[in-house]
Amino acid sequence: MTQLKVAIVGVGHLGQHHARIAFESPQADLIAVVDPDEKNGSLIAAKYNTQWVPDWSLIANQVNVLQIAAPTIHHHRLGIEAIKMGKHILMEKPLASNLEESQLLLAAHEQSLTLSPSLVRAVGHLERFNPAVGALRDRKFTPRFLETVRVSPFPMRSTEVDVVLDVMIHDLDLIQALVGRPIRDVEAFGVPVLTKQADLVNARIKFEGGTVAILTASRVAQKKERTLRVFGHQSYAKLNFADQTMELHTLIEGTNGFQIKNENISIKEGEPLKIEIEQFYQACLGLGGEYVSWTEGHEALKVADLVQKAVKKSLSEIEG
Ligand SMILES: NC(=O)c1ccc[n+]([C@@H]2O[C@H](COP(=O)([O-])OP(=O)(O)OC[C@H]3O[C@@H](n4cnc5c(N)ncnc54)[C@H](O)[C@@H]3O)[C@@H](O)[C@H]2O)c1
Repeated sequence: MTQLKVAIVGVGHLGQHHARIAFESPQADLIAVVDPDEKNGSLIAAKYNTQWVPDWSLIANQVNVLQIAAPTIHHHRLGIEAIKMGKHILMEKPLASNLEESQLLLAAHEQSLTLSPSLVRAVGHLERFNPAVGALRDRKFTPRFLETVRVSPFPMRSTEVDVVLDVMIHDLDLIQALVGRPIRDVEAFGVPVLTKQADLVNARIKFEGGTVAILTASRVAQKKERTLRVFGHQSYAKLNFADQTMELHTLIEGTNGFQIKNENISIKEGEPLKIEIEQFYQACLGLGGEYVSWTEGHEALKVADLVQKAVKKSLSEIEG
């Protein structure tokens, strides 16, 4: 198999897993890890039998794939440079730190496709690759009401963005993919707790056609919880993203009237990040892998922007 020449840009909390997966993948040759932090960069490089470099200009001509897992505030600048270098790019989520930067990235990407249409530009909305989500989508569930909860204790990192861009963005992307209709209305409330930005947000999103989603995201919770509840026509599913489980409850007509059929759906576990990256490599190799496009990443940021504006408005009202 032809191998992609890969560099991981930013090998902190998440990027080190990109490095592990690239190192283990038969589709990739891990050329370097790029990180201004020499100590950690060298450590990760040694672990995965590659070199550490502080700046990608030192290896740019040796790679055709860049996986960017640097802090979100750098995504726009790094993305524009990577586009100019003509690379396949997997940008960690969120695509950028605000809507304006995301729009600029998308425009530069679309412009670059006129010269190199086969370049793949993906964004790391990894929950789409969670096997539990795959099981839900296989059942062709048409959501009428969705409820997501994504809460965890304070992470001590990614505090340069609020909880909407740090955490809720996963669910904003996912519910858009599941509902597949334009958004009509957004209401939200949020509060800063440990940072100057909102650390806890609750949003209510109404889609064309009447479907409603209620999302809660917090990075100041006592315990970790990541769930999605979806109500369809005569059926209800509850997914646990962490455990990769799905309960399905269906109303069926039996001889004695309606009954509820309760099932624990069997799911083949898999690491969402690994599935996402392997699919991205397949796409880069022209082998038809699935990925979340920058257009979709930008759509998630558009809703995030509406949620952030609604949070700001509600805070100004409550503060009088
Ligand atoms: N998909 C997911 O589930 C998920 C989970 C966690 C983080 N993320 C995203 O990954 C990104 C990184 O988050 P993290 O938690 O790993 O942060 P982190 O702070 O743990 O790691 C960031 C790393 O990037 C390095 N870095 C800083 N500036 C750089 C630059 N200009 N070039 C290269 N490297 C640079 C830092 O030295 C650090 O090692 C964020 O965008 C975050 O939203 C995604």
